[in-house]
Order: sequence, then structure tokens, then C-alpha cells
Amino acid sequence: MSAKKYQDKVVLVTGSRRGVGRAIAEHFLVNGATVLGFARQEATIEHPQYHHFMVDVGDPDSVIRGFAALKKVTDSIQIVVNNAAVLTSQYSMIMPPAAAQAMVNVNLMGPFMVSREAAKLMRKRKWGRIINIGSMAASLEPIGDSMYAACKAGLSTLANVMAKEFASMNVTCNTLGINAIESDMLSQLPRDKIEEIISGLPIARFSVSDDILNVIDFYASERSSSITAQTVFLGGVN
Ligand SMILES: NC(=O)c1ccc[n+]([C@@H]2O[C@H](COP(=O)([O-])OP(=O)(O)OC[C@H]3O[C@@H](n4cnc5c(N)ncnc54)[C@H](OP(=O)(O)O)[C@@H]3O)[C@@H](O)[C@H]2O)c1
Repeated sequence: MSAKKYQDKVVLVTGSRRGVGRAIAEHFLVNGATVLGFARQEATIEHPQYHHFMVDVGDPDSVIRGFAALKKVTDSIQIVVNNAAVLTSQYSMIMPPAAAQAMVNVNLMGPFMVSREAAKLMRKRKWGRIINIGSMAASLEPIGDSMYAACKAGLSTLANVMAKEFASMNVTCNTLGINAIESDMLSQLPRDKIEEIISGLPIARFSVSDDILNVIDFYASERSSSITAQTVFLGGVN
């Protein structure tokens, strides 16, 4: 039997219960990885190599407690996918401040905390891949998404600075800006608005899981040791 691509890898995926994060977690499991999942609610994945931790990534203390718990399962992490995020789309003048604050906490502070705690484990083996899930919103800057787009733009900046800090540990940090893919998050948005945005892209279609997994595999590859501080957008967004 041939070796599976990720059989010697431990992968942490945030937001692994639903949508994109679940597809990413299942991809790593199918390919032999041990997967650690962070989400606020109970696990939806049952697999002998899947370990679920109820963590609110928007709460730094919860992230610290999550790492303490996962260290009882493993003392190493090779790959992190910062996928968990929340979205409230609303004109800035009427956006509830608490909703804007939640996006900062979950979408920006979350990846900061998870990346730095994971990097402390990656340092021991001098190998790591940190992959942030960004959004076309960072580039297209749509009305209603001032805070969401700012957080997603900030996510690339976060990765780019960490790329410098972690380079000597052989840890790369990159961002994947996805466009639109069917999920609970997408269903919150007006369909006509999304379809209008997608119809204006060079590749004028919604994404499917494989579009995302293709770039995840590229960033995670052993061969991508010189790919760091990069943001790849799907669909021709730039
Ligand atoms: N879907 C799209 O069209 C689209 C487009 C561009 C970018 N994106 C990005 O793609 C990523 C995945 O989006 P999605 O569409 O799959 O979203 P989703 O369907 O809303 O799923 C979000 C996931 O994140 C978890 N989560 C949310 N808040 C959390 C928190 N505070 N702590 C821990 N886990 C949390 C949720 O689980 P719990 O509720 O159990 O915590 C869930 O598993 C996000 O980064 C999003 O910004 C999506």
C-alpha cells in the first residue's frame, strides 16, 4: 500500500465543524493526517484520527486552554489552517459595535493567538506550515464589509510579518483568499449581491472544495519551503 500524503503530519484546523473548515479537516484525514479541530460547539466529525476541542478562538484564554488540552494528545503540530471566522455584513453607520468587535476578535485575534501558540510547537521540530483562510473581500472591499474586509486584509499582513519571524524555524505563513463557496456563512448574504460580484470575476463561478484544497496542498507541501508571505486569491481576484 502506498504511503498517504499527510500520514506523518498533525494538522490543526480551526472552525472544523462546518463548511470550508470541515472539508479541509476531512481532506487531511483522508490523506492520513492526525487532525485537531477547534470550534465552539461539539464535534461533527467522527474519525479515529480526529480530536475535537471546544475552543472560542476569539477568546485568548480559551485558545490557551485549547493548546493545554491538545498537548495531552500530541506534543507536535506541523500544519495549521486558520479557517474559523464570523461575518456580519452591514453598513458601517449601523453596524452594531459588538458585531464589529466580534469580527476583530475571531477573524484577526484568533489567527494571531493560534499561530503563535502553534509556532511554539513547530519550533521544536523546525518545520511548519501556517495557512490563513482569507477572502476576496480583502481585495474587492465590498460595501457592508468594512470590518470583515479589514480583518481579512489584516490576516495577510499578519501572515507576512510572522513569515519573517518564523522563517529561521522553517515555518512558512501564507494566505488563501477564497471567493464564494456554499456554506452557512454564504447563506447569510443576499444571493443577488454575491452573484453580481462573482459574475464580474475573470473566473465567474462559485468555488468548490477542490479549488480550496488544491491551494492548501500547495502551501502544505514539503516542496513549498520557499513559498511564504504570499496571498493567493481564487477566481482571478487580485
Ligand atoms: N463561504 C464563503 O463564501 C467564504 C468566502 C470568503 C471567505 N470565506 C472564509 O472561509 C472560512 C470558512 O467560512 P465558512 O463559509 O465555512 O463559514 P461557516 O460556514 O460560518 O463556518 C464557520 C466555522 O467556524 C467556526 N467558528 C466560528 N466562530 C468561531 C470561534 N469564535 N471559535 C472557534 N470556531 C469558530 C464554526 O463552528 P462553531 O460555530 O461550532 O464555532 C464553523 O465550524 C472563513 O474564514 C471565511 O471568512 C468564506
